[in-house]
Amino acid sequence: ATPQDLAGRTVLVSAGGTREPLDPVRFLGNRSSGKQGYALAAVAASRGADVVLVSSSSLPDPAGVRVVRVETAEQLRTAVLAEAPSADVVVMAAAVADFRPARFTDHKIKKSDDGGSPVIELVRNPDILAELAAHRTRPGQVVVGFAAETGDAQGSVLDHARAKLARKGCDLLVVNEVGVDKTFGSDDNTVVVLDAAGGERPVEHALDPGTKTEVAAGVWNVVTRRLA
Ligand code: C5P
Repeated sequence: ATPQDLAGRTVLVSAGGTREPLDPVRFLGNRSSGKQGYALAAVAASRGADVVLVSSSSLPDPAGVRVVRVETAEQLRTAVLAEAPSADVVVMAAAVADFRPARFTDHKIKKSDDGGSPVIELVRNPDILAELAAHRTRPGQVVVGFAAETGDAQGSVLDHARAKLARKGCDLLVVNEVGVDKTFGSDDNTVVVLDAAGGERPVEHALDPGTKTEVAAGVWNVVTRRLA
């Protein structure tokens, strides 16, 4: 039987890639499928939690989960900030666009006769995870972020992830290594969960590779130990 170790808990999960409109027919988007966030929501519900899923994905609603549909980073921020005060756990699995077009053009941008191309100016979106972590109103709330990292000359995947954990101020960071054919859209995942409780040297929980549902179960195991 599934343990009911999240009974009596309210959890908020965000999932999917945001779409930042450019004109009535175009948007800037990303390759996030929303599958890992949906698996987290579904597993939490099966373990007894009251689950709110703020989603910019078009996957079907998981059973027993309240779904709030959003499209842009700004809409996702509004929905998440409204729900967060009553959540014991907030998991930001959404791939929030870091930038959005500075202006929305209310007609379709046309090709000009002179063969030129438009220049699209971008502006930064607010960092919702950092904001959630910095302005918590619920005592004991656990804030969980996600990081899709690649290693490079500046450091390994985990070096970048440790820096991100500190920068965002969240309690746990679920880290996956991304690359061509890895993670995005796939049904499987391999993650390490960093726990800020380790201070300078965050505790590393390397979860067994598995389906996104199995990885979700592993993430909730780490979260429930922290809630206890
Ligand atoms: O900085 P980066 O996009 O790699 O951070 C990923 C984490 O931060 C994810 O948990 C994502 O949901 C969150 N995020 C956010 N607001 C943004 C960008 C990312 O909450 N504008």
